[in-house]
Amino acid sequence: MDLPLVHRLTSGEGWGLLQSLPPYDESTALALGARLRAAGFEPDLVAAALTQSQLRARAVDKLGPTAAEMLLTRDGLEQATRRPIAEAHAQRFADAGIRHVYDLGCGIGSDAMAFAAAGLRVNAVDADEVTAAIAAVNLRPWTRAAVEEATAESVPLPTGEGARGVGVWLDPARRTPGVADVNGKTRRLFRLEDLSPSWDAVRDLSSRVPGAGAKLSPAFPHSRLPARAEAEWTSYDGEVVECALWWGTLVRRPGRSARVLGRRVDAVVDETMAKDADPTLAEIGRLDRYLYEADRAVIRAGLVGALANAVGGRELSPGLGYVNASHEMRLPWARRYAVTDVLPYNVKGLRALLRDRRAGRVTIKKRGVSVDADQLRRQLRLSGDQTVTIVVTRLRTTQVVLVVTPF
Ligand SMILES: C[S@@+](CC[C@H](N)C(=O)[O-])C[C@H]1O[C@@H](n2cnc3c(N)ncnc32)[C@H](O)[C@@H]1O
Repeated sequence: MDLPLVHRLTSGEGWGLLQSLPPYDESTALALGARLRAAGFEPDLVAAALTQSQLRARAVDKLGPTAAEMLLTRDGLEQATRRPIAEAHAQRFADAGIRHVYDLGCGIGSDAMAFAAAGLRVNAVDADEVTAAIAAVNLRPWTRAAVEEATAESVPLPTGEGARGVGVWLDPARRTPGVADVNGKTRRLFRLEDLSPSWDAVRDLSSRVPGAGAKLSPAFPHSRLPARAEAEWTSYDGEVVECALWWGTLVRRPGRSARVLGRRVDAVVDETMAKDADPTLAEIGRLDRYLYEADRAVIRAGLVGALANAVGGRELSPGLGYVNASHEMRLPWARRYAVTDVLPYNVKGLRALLRDRRAGRVTIKKRGVSVDADQLRRQLRLSGDQTVTIVVTRLRTTQVVLVVTPF
């Protein structure tokens, strides 16, 4: 979409057309397009409106009902922060007493909208003129939000007394524009050196205001955590989606933390909870009845010790995320299983055991081993009528299989 089309689509006739479209339905989109063109709408406007309608339908899961009022691009939607996570970012700014946020690289504005909705004043910029124009449309409902096309590095931030209550938010692009993978998605970049704005710019900008935050890849290496900052890994419904770095007044607790979010969960795990965890590992011949699996954000944050502490158990192998314990407990940031069998990993032995259990379907969970689940499933040649869950992992250094029952 180019700038003139953004303007036509978001003013007068174009916006009226867009807002009048019925819920997107792939099977009727072609006919609808033909009807609209026959009614006198320009073909490019019709095509753009139908694309928006399709993107909005796709965006609802990520951005919630406000997606129906937004202007979107495929790339912008892919990079946008999921709404509950954007709200969590905004809450952190508000809790820290920040009243004015500079969102430096705002994309289509998902984070900026959450800041504005939390009552914060927002100055958002994006280096791409079309993206900035789209963010400006999306932030129209908030009079205290302004968007312009600019680079993060060129924005004059307030200094001295003027910087009181000011915060910076950065969500650097992590992809190579124009380089698509086999599915047509832009390729993700995971090296700090490949961020835009750059990692140096992120650190510089974050040092100029009382509080700053930056959304980075979950692959952020622990060794790069700046002094006195907080790195917070966040998962949503079990998938780790980001590692946010926080500086200054936005730090709740320096060091590593995990935020486990989802449709039914909101929990925080931090380093104090992992402190002094028993370093002894579980032993193959003496496994206790229950297996706990930490949420992936907790694993990425290196806080599996918090799970061992919480359930009074022992890890199977350091950092993998599995903890064995003798008692039963419910935690919002861990799954739990009853262990029925443990055996060294061996396809023949496992096949015999699963035949005994009359297993016809098997759910294979694996961590810390290079086992191909599909190949293993074929090798097991199952034919029974029961469904079984197995965990293929390492116990200390030995590859093992645990037959488990989730509960
Ligand atoms: C990951 S997206 C931001 C997504 C946004 N937080 C949201 O939730 O919708 C990153 C954006 O940064 C912009 N960008 C990249 N380098 C920039 C720079 N040096 N200055 C300003 N914006 C930049 C890109 O155009 C892109 O739109």
